[in-house]
Amino acid sequence: MKPLLAPSILSANFAHLEDDIKAAEKGGADYFHLDIMDSHFVPNISFGPWVAKTMKGITDVPLDAHLMITKPREYIPRFVDAGVDLIYPHIEASYDVYRTVQLITDLGARAGITLNPGTPIERVEPLIDLVDSVLLMSVCPGFGGQEFIASTMKKISSLRKLLEELKPSVRIAVDGGVNRKNIKELYKAGADFFIAGSAVFRADDIEGEVRALKAALK
Ligand code: DX5
Ligand code: ZN
Repeated sequence: MKPLLAPSILSANFAHLEDDIKAAEKGGADYFHLDIMDSHFVPNISFGPWVAKTMKGITDVPLDAHLMITKPREYIPRFVDAGVDLIYPHIEASYDVYRTVQLITDLGARAGITLNPGTPIERVEPLIDLVDSVLLMSVCPGFGGQEFIASTMKKISSLRKLLEELKPSVRIAVDGGVNRKNIKELYKAGADFFIAGSAVFRADDIEGEVRALKAALK
């Protein structure tokens, strides 16, 4: 499967969001990643569905929403209405996550499922028929700019093996501390959807950084 790069706008400069987005778009961004935080599921607050609407006015690149919130079902319809293509709730956020994932697909969006660093990969098995993508957190969610947790590399290769048995078409996304130094190794381990916040938007040359990250995946 063609590897995809999704810059996370959490690290963009909102004073000139459009310029940052256009630069990442020119570099070849495949998705833009929206980090949604509610200060309950993670110790931080970010932004809501209105930013997805703003993004839709700026770019035609598809959007994915990473829901770090305790009540995802209350907000999923608004993200779908705002035009988000792919929605990643957390498996740890609710005891009835199956219902959450089902709501996403019922509303016509594509569903992913996110696992925190401490969550075992086997937990995706009951949901696998409904999801297109499994997102492995490689930092504890809540903040950009953290260091990549090294054990994620092994988790990616184990998940790739498991998916070969269960559903080979499922993508593995990786989020947190992804940069030029580790992206190639992550790809080799079996990931094919790369989320990068600070590596892209804290670079002096955003367009060049996106190009460099994508070139590492050739
Ligand atoms: C962290 C978010 C990430 C974050 C990644 O909770 O889920 O998407 O923006 O940022 P970097 O790439 O800086 O680790
Ligand atoms: Zn994220």
